[in-house]
Amino acid sequence: MKHLLAIESSCDETAAAVIDQDRHVLSNVVASQDDLHQRFGGVVPEIASRAHVRAILPVIDEALRRADRKLSDLHAVAVTTEPGLVGSLLVGLTAAKTLAMALGVPLVAVNHVHAHLYACRLSAGVEVFPAVGLVVSGGHTNLYDCRTLVDYELIGSTRDDAAGEAFDKAAAILGLPYPGGPSVERAARNGRPGAFKFPRALLEPGSLDFSFSGLKTALLYEAQGKPGASAVAPELTEQRRGDLAAAFQEAVVDVLVEKCRRALVQGSRERLLVGGGVAANQRLRDRLEESLRSVRAKVHFAAREFCTDNAGMAALAWEALEQGQTVPLDIDVTPGLIRRP
Ligand code: KG4
Ligand code: ZN
Repeated sequence: MKHLLAIESSCDETAAAVIDQDRHVLSNVVASQDDLHQRFGGVVPEIASRAHVRAILPVIDEALRRADRKLSDLHAVAVTTEPGLVGSLLVGLTAAKTLAMALGVPLVAVNHVHAHLYACRLSAGVEVFPAVGLVVSGGHTNLYDCRTLVDYELIGSTRDDAAGEAFDKAAAILGLPYPGGPSVERAARNGRPGAFKFPRALLEPGSLDFSFSGLKTALLYEAQGKPGASAVAPELTEQRRGDLAAAFQEAVVDVLVEKCRRALVQGSRERLLVGGGVAANQRLRDRLEESLRSVRAKVHFAAREFCTDNAGMAALAWEALEQGQTVPLDIDVTPGLIRRP
């Protein structure tokens, strides 16, 4: 049995996994930096890069130890090269190049957003392509037409904030801890989704793009008052915070559900894949399951351990490797998301 080591450091998690050729994830180690970024309410790129430098070797060692494999057992090294924070990506890439060179094994480049979708295939354990793919994370809100395991065409993306970023900012507005998604979801459990009417930006008819900045501003004004307005916002009681969280979450979910429905109908697809940190949200999961029944589509979510950033989902590298798609040791990172024609 062949094994590869996958390394992921595109944002604020330092992660490594050992994955065998049958796509079994033998170990999936994630060192979170949440405690470092918490007081800033978001990821600080310089702090993230430094933390990756400190964590990368212990995380790789731990992944090998938990998989009970040695460096000499590795057949290839896979690494996220795009998209992400440039300083963060470079740490993982440098470690991966060094290992590939020292071990004399091939290097495989992984697109992080594609890996978020591949996590759905990994979790389903059955064929899920062709499908529409939704990646909802801190950095991305993208819709893809996924033709095969490795052929993903970008068909929609956010024009401003990503869905996860909107959750993080909503949490900051409501005085809830970072990362915002889980804390807004928790607060929303005690709230009423209909208590406030927040905007749903559906954009032009047929558009598959997203926009969450108007919703974020609406929440800000409701929570803290409109600048220049004479009325002072009511005190943020536990009940009011819960209602605002629930109404905000419902607005995000409504938009995501509607865009997925549109993409499925427009592309005549019958399957939806949902990956990325926000895919861990139970309200989104329930609403998608329920709404997609009407268009006779089946939804496959990434398992929760593969939703937020991790290296296990880079099992996608096996698909590339088996097609002979390795990369040279002088490959660079590509921080931005490239909208391919
Ligand atoms: O995929 P991910 O770990 O990192 C990126 O690639 O960006 O996603 C992190 C994002 C954060 O914005 C976090 O607030 C959000 O996912 N998130 C959630 C939940 N868990 C994580 N958003 C909503 N509900 C959740 N349960
Ligand atoms: Zn991610």
